[in-house]
Formats: sequence, C-alpha cells, structure tokens
Amino acid sequence: MLGEGENFVASDIPAIINRTRRTYILSDGEMAIVTSDSVWVMNRQGVPVSKKVFEVHWDAEAAEKGGYEHFMIKEIYEQPKAIRETTTGRLAKDDTGILFDELKWTKDDIAGIHKITIVACGTAYHAGIVGKYYLEQLARIPVEVDVASEFRYRSPLVDDKTLAIFISQSGETLDTLAALKEAKKLGARTLAVTNVVGSSIAREADQVIYTQAGPEIAVASTKAYTTQLIGLLMLSVYLASLRGTLPEERVKAIIQGLRALPAQAHEILEDVESIKTFAQKYGFSEDVFFIGRSLDYAVALEGSLKLKEISYIHAEAYAAGELKHGTLALIIEGVPVIALATQRDVYEKTLSNIKEVKARDAVVIGIGMQGDKQLEKYVDHTIFVPATEKYLAPILAVIPLQLPAELM
Ligand code: F6R
Repeated sequence: MLGEGENFVASDIPAIINRTRRTYILSDGEMAIVTSDSVWVMNRQGVPVSKKVFEVHWDAEAAEKGGYEHFMIKEIYEQPKAIRETTTGRLAKDDTGILFDELKWTKDDIAGIHKITIVACGTAYHAGIVGKYYLEQLARIPVEVDVASEFRYRSPLVDDKTLAIFISQSGETLDTLAALKEAKKLGARTLAVTNVVGSSIAREADQVIYTQAGPEIAVASTKAYTTQLIGLLMLSVYLASLRGTLPEERVKAIIQGLRALPAQAHEILEDVESIKTFAQKYGFSEDVFFIGRSLDYAVALEGSLKLKEISYIHAEAYAAGELKHGTLALIIEGVPVIALATQRDVYEKTLSNIKEVKARDAVVIGIGMQGDKQLEKYVDHTIFVPATEKYLAPILAVIPLQLPAELM
C-alpha cells in the first residue's frame, strides 16, 4: 500500500486504510520489494510486473468502531445501511425488475445453464442454503450447495452447463478460492458474490456481484450474511425474469419488499427488549436448539453458528420435521428451543413440531412475523419481526439471532 515517504504490506485493506488509500493488489505468484520510498513488483522469475494503482473509496470512518463497544455490534447495527447500499442502483425504478449492469445477461446467455452449484464456507455457506431456496423456487433451476472444503475432493459433477457461484465476504478464503479454480478447470461458468473489491475470488471468477456491506472487521459475520442474501435474492429474481418463471406481480412484490427492508431492519434494532429478556434468561443454558422449516431452517443454521461462535454455548439447528428422527431424545425439561415460524406455507407443520418439543417441557422461543396471533399460544416467549414477503423473512429473522450473544 502506497503512502507518502512510507509504504506498507498488509493482508487486507482495512488494516491500513487510515494511512493510505492507494494500493497495489498482488496476484498469485507475485512478489514485491518494499522500501519507504519504492515498491517493485515482480513475478516468480523476478521479471518486473507493471501494476495499476487501486484507489480505495471506502469511508475511513467505516473501518473504525464509531462509538460501539466492538465491531460485531457496530456491524449488526449497520445492517439497514448495508442492505440499502446493496440494493442501490439495482432495483428498476418502476419495480419491474432487477438491474445487474455487472452481469448484463440475456435469455440466450443463460439458456445453456442446466444447474447451479453454490460453494462457500461457514456463514457464507449458510447464505448459500438460503440461495438454493431462492434460485430453485423463483428461477426454477436445480441448485446444489457445497461446503468449499468438501467440493474439491468429491469429484464434483460440474461442467460447462453449470453456473458455479462462490460466496465469500472476504474474497480470500482459501478453500473457496481453490474450489473456484477447480470449477473453472471443469469448464463451469463462475460467479463470485463477495464484499471485497479486488479480492482473489473477485479476480478469479468470470463475473462478480459485489455486496455493498462496507468493511466487515468482526470475525463473526453479520452484515455480510444479510447482504449476501440480498445479492442472491436479486440474482434469483433477475434469472427468473429472464426465464419467465415469475409473474410480474411477484417480481413487484419482492422489489417493494426490498425497498422497505432497511427501515424494517432498523425497527428490529431499535427495540431489542424482547431479545434481551430471552438472552439474559437463557444465556447460561448449556444447550440450545434451533428449529425451522424451509427458509426458516436455513436461518436456524446461521443462528446456531452465531450462538456457538460468540457465546460458546452448544447449539444445534434442525429442520423441524427431522427432530423426531432421533434428536428429540435430547429435548428435556427447560432446554431452550428457538423455533422460527415466519414461513406461512409450512406454518401449521412448524406448529406441530413446536407442540412436540413443548410436550417434552422445552422452553420455546418463537420467532414470527408481526400480526401472527397464533404463535403466542404455542410458545413461552415470542420475538416478532416486521411482516414482509416470505423470501425477505430470513433477512429480518436472522437479526434477533445475531443479537443474543451481545445482549447477555
Ligand atoms: C462465521 C464466519 C465464518 C465465515 C467463513 C467464510 O461468523 O464469519 O464462518 O463466514 O469463514 O468467510 P468468507 O465469507 O470471508 O469466505
């Protein structure tokens, strides 16, 4: 990174953003000799490489804690802004479609895609599971989702009819990058969904959708996840419009829902009392279970990871209908079960799973949509998120699951 009378070497831009905004981004196999007044970049053979200066346009403030106790809470509270920025310029003014200038796909471009493979790690993998529901239900293309560290070693069935999507906040996760290289070798079309401009994954993929979450410094991913979901939802609607698989009024409803989302996320973050009550009451539990069906199940996986990672509490996420196939044995008196119930098409089924855990004297915390009069009758505590489109519910429902560790 290039300063005035000083130069820096850093593994990521935020590390040094307060000293300079001018950087060289090294590619694989490149080396540099850095002194206080010169930077020489060369390849493995020592041949000089001419590099273009990459100017960082992020707000320096954004990389600071800005009054919050630590980065994770700051980043949780930045979600309304991150969501707004990820949709900016990508929603047609009349709500009739998604604009992806970075893709510019036509019907013919996508006619040859027979399947989609999503590859990622950790939280980004959980975003990929939500993406599978979005892409299959809206664009009607078969999707498989893989953990990046498995993908390379299972002889994946990927070819030139596959669109391979790689999700990564940092754009630097080694397993995801290696999987991307493998998919390219097998002939797949590759698309990165990443937050970091100029990152290795962004440079390696054929095309990129950037999430606009701003720098994510905390180790636990929060705003990157919500903006990854937005990126995947917009991609699904974009593909659905090209393929004619989604009626216009559904496209409009989703886009209008996306426009309302930043204010709704803000609403959740403004009133955290119900989340605080439950966090303080059950923060000392040894085991916590998360259950949900359909998109709620995908969110349950992410809620469980956040709790483990931040609070060191053992947590498990189950597709609600799967619990009875063995794990129900672990649901005993007083065990907290967080039941997500935002999806109307599986609502009754979820209620019957809630009854199963209540019958074993679990304490059930239900997460539902505002206006749901029924849920309270079945659970011990409720946390409501503003009512929205079913595909947008995961983006709101995850916020109360990111917060407990912070509020205990
Ligand atoms: C969990 C978390 C990790 C990352 C994973 C992938 O809170 O942050 O699970 O999601 O390591 O990182 P990226 O998205 O940078 O590839």
